[in-house]
Amino acid sequence: MKDHFARRALAVKRSAIRELLKLTEKPDIISFAGGLPDPETFPREELARIAADELRGHYRNVLQYGLTEGSLTFRQALLPWLRTQGLHLELGQLLVTTASQQGLDLLGKAFIDPGDVVFCDLPTYLGAIQAFSLFQADKVGVPLLEDGMDVDVLEERIREAKRAKKTLKAIYVIPDFQNPTGITTSWEKRKRLLEIARREDLLIFEDNPYGELRFAGEPIPSIRSMDTEGRVIMLVTLSKVLSAGLRLAVLIADGELMEVLVRMKQATDLCTSKLTQHLAARYFNECSIEDHLKELRVVYRGKRDAMVAALERYMPTDEGIIWTHPDGGLFLWVSLPEELDTDEMFPHTLEHKVAYVPGKAFFVDGTGHNTMRLSFSVSTEAEIDEGIRRLSAVVREELAAKRVGSVA
Ligand SMILES: Cc1ncc(COP(=O)(O)O)c(C=O)c1O
Repeated sequence: MKDHFARRALAVKRSAIRELLKLTEKPDIISFAGGLPDPETFPREELARIAADELRGHYRNVLQYGLTEGSLTFRQALLPWLRTQGLHLELGQLLVTTASQQGLDLLGKAFIDPGDVVFCDLPTYLGAIQAFSLFQADKVGVPLLEDGMDVDVLEERIREAKRAKKTLKAIYVIPDFQNPTGITTSWEKRKRLLEIARREDLLIFEDNPYGELRFAGEPIPSIRSMDTEGRVIMLVTLSKVLSAGLRLAVLIADGELMEVLVRMKQATDLCTSKLTQHLAARYFNECSIEDHLKELRVVYRGKRDAMVAALERYMPTDEGIIWTHPDGGLFLWVSLPEELDTDEMFPHTLEHKVAYVPGKAFFVDGTGHNTMRLSFSVSTEAEIDEGIRRLSAVVREELAAKRVGSVA
């Protein structure tokens, strides 16, 4: 039956994370693998009240089809919140999507022909790698430094791609508390990326699920908010700030780009659930998203602190093991000595009842064998401490085994 598949379907690899998550679902495992928001933070009472009211009182509307662009009520409700993020928008610049993963799919549909180049960080979000692979993009990785993408290497990769007569389409970035590393792109680099995009006539796909989860340091303006030409298309999801299950995001784009994206959306699913859009709209209109975000930041800061403290306490210090210290978001990133392979180590850590995501899956060039992503979002602070203790013990054992092996 293999001959029946479209080439693009075979270009998409299984998500290593989804496969791993199946193994880590056992209750006795402390999992730092999934990038899920903490379910205890979901505003369930408010949503339950609103849902009952909407379903009983407004069923003719909310159980019906809606506009492809998204419900006017929902888009209107989001505008003030987006303004607080420096995004001064009109309704027509917002396309509601079935969360931002669909936004990535629509970007692929609208802009990527087979072989078109999309530049992305090394490492980058696995779901974007998958979405762009579906359209057979040539994903060109650029190393990620402590302050964002290495723009000098980006310039080099652009020159190479042009010499090879490739079609250059876009730069994909997650400037705030990036998935998987937790790294934030500096203001200078955001400006540089925009300048490069202008000069080379590239689009920027700015994916921002975590920007509102800043618990330390000062906010940095989004690339979209600095853009005067409409070349930055931004994705803002509610998954990490309200609920992932509502499956809601907005894609921000202008003019002709937006027109084509709306057509892509129509062909994909006609419209996003009107019910969830209306639940969220009423949440934004009747409750305080700012108060909710304040609570989330306290929760995630506590967990980040617990993870960093545990890493400092338990990880061997003299082995060149390093980790990021994110100012927001849900993840941190650990680099182990070169001789360790986090794919190989994974079964061993599962035996010790702790899980992470091996880093390689996030690298479009197949590197990153000695890295891992740790999510601090769903475990309690006590579990984080115990999980990092177990993980560190495995790292020590693996290092000792490698060193004995290399002596022998
Ligand atoms: C960078 C990034 N983009 C997009 C997504 C997809 O999120 P959703 O489809 O729930 O909006 C995620 C989820 O973890 C993410 O980390």
